[in-house]
Amino acid sequence: GFRGQVTLDGPSGTGKSSVARAVAARLGAAYLDTGAMYRAATVAVLDGGVDPDDAEAVARVVAAARIEVGTTAGEEVVLVDGVDVAERIRGAEVTRAVSPVSAVPAVRRQLVDQQRALVEAADAVVVEGRDIGTVVLPDATCKIYLTAAPEVRAERRAGQLGVTDPAEIAALAEDLRRRDEYDSSRADSPLRPASDAVIVDSTDLDREAVIDRVCELAGRAV
Ligand code: C5P
Repeated sequence: GFRGQVTLDGPSGTGKSSVARAVAARLGAAYLDTGAMYRAATVAVLDGGVDPDDAEAVARVVAAARIEVGTTAGEEVVLVDGVDVAERIRGAEVTRAVSPVSAVPAVRRQLVDQQRALVEAADAVVVEGRDIGTVVLPDATCKIYLTAAPEVRAERRAGQLGVTDPAEIAALAEDLRRRDEYDSSRADSPLRPASDAVIVDSTDLDREAVIDRVCELAGRAV
């Protein structure tokens, strides 16, 4: 089977998570969702009563939090200090606050160390995020940057959430745009393709075609 590391980076709403899970299953590889770790850190910040824009306070609260992510019997497990937050991390409150929290260098150092330790334990792994090919695993065997036109990303996100109202779709598009801009322009580990990443544009591809393409690229990199 496949041995090595597949990194899957890109902006929000490209279908990255669903593709990463499917590719990991097909390759018989472990799967790590690093976004879930930044989202869990954000839960700790919100529950700590700290302003997400107060970098010093954010760093202090996250340093004291125990963040665990993994999969048990096919179910995503996300714990903050032993408390299950798997549903909460997908909510609007966390989504709004996650970008400033993940821009704090001390938070990134802490979670990147944890990510590398998790990856080291696996022979084969698919890791998704924003900085995996550039910072977390610069020597990965197969690097993919998944992107899609902004309108298409907003529509897909709306489809996932069951939103049909045009004004609500426009608001989703604005949320995506704001988060991508924040993630791309931060000083520490901005969102961008690694120089050796293959860019996969899913604007005109369905989910299955993207999964096929990523598996093909992973197979070639072995
Ligand atoms: O992928 P997901 O939408 O769950 O990521 C949530 C947020 O976490 C991103 O918008 C980004 O701010 C942050 N993130 C990051 N680095 C990663 C993964 C996620 O900064 N490797």
